Amino acid sequence: MPRTSPYPTAAAFMPDRLTMTALRDAVQHCEGCPLYANATQAVFGEGLRSAEVMLVGEQPGDQEDRTGAPFVGPAGKLLDRALDEAGIDRRKAYVTNAVKHFKWRARGTRRIHDKPSWTEQRACRPWLEAELALVKPRALVLMGATAAQSLLGKSFRVTQNRGAALESSLAELVTATIHPSAVLRADDREEMFAGLVADLGLVADELRRAAPR
Ligand code: URA
Ligand code: SF4
Repeated sequence: MPRTSPYPTAAAFMPDRLTMTALRDAVQHCEGCPLYANATQAVFGEGLRSAEVMLVGEQPGDQEDRTGAPFVGPAGKLLDRALDEAGIDRRKAYVTNAVKHFKWRARGTRRIHDKPSWTEQRACRPWLEAELALVKPRALVLMGATAAQSLLGKSFRVTQNRGAALESSLAELVTATIHPSAVLRADDREEMFAGLVADLGLVADELRRAAPR
């Protein structure tokens, strides 16, 4: 295996000016890791630049890859329901992913999710950091291990630390929870869904309690 990657990480593809428009444009030209090659397009975050909550998932799925928008497929529908039950308005949130291109493998005619490697997660992090720097959300919600480990380190364990305020300077409130797709895959869907809603409820409470900025 080669020791050095031919890919320079996303840092080499960052625009000079950090604006949403410049970022959204530049990400479509990113070759910071191999994932751009088999995807339809990069899927950047969506939502208000002034959003109080930023929700971070793993990577786009099949439908996100086709449409270019994050969390529009089955996991997105489930997230919508969970946010609604928790009392968080998705239209007022900023929703994005740790990795911007869909990583997949073929199963018959279907394209199924393939987990991005640590190298790919790290390569893609500059885009997420730029989104954080621009949106400056009061609450940052990391959904699943990829999002949490991308920003908090490889040793972070969602199962042990979910649903609590974490020690972090990334935002006023930083918290981790399970990924909506984990609910879809689970046998005990209802319980898992209730857990996701409860974790999001902490964020909703905190936002209501804290004074608006
Ligand atoms: N799963 C994710 O992590 N992100 C999406 O945008 C869709 C599914
Ligand atoms: Fe660039 Fe991220 Fe896409 Fe890799 S996944 S090519 S780092 S945007």
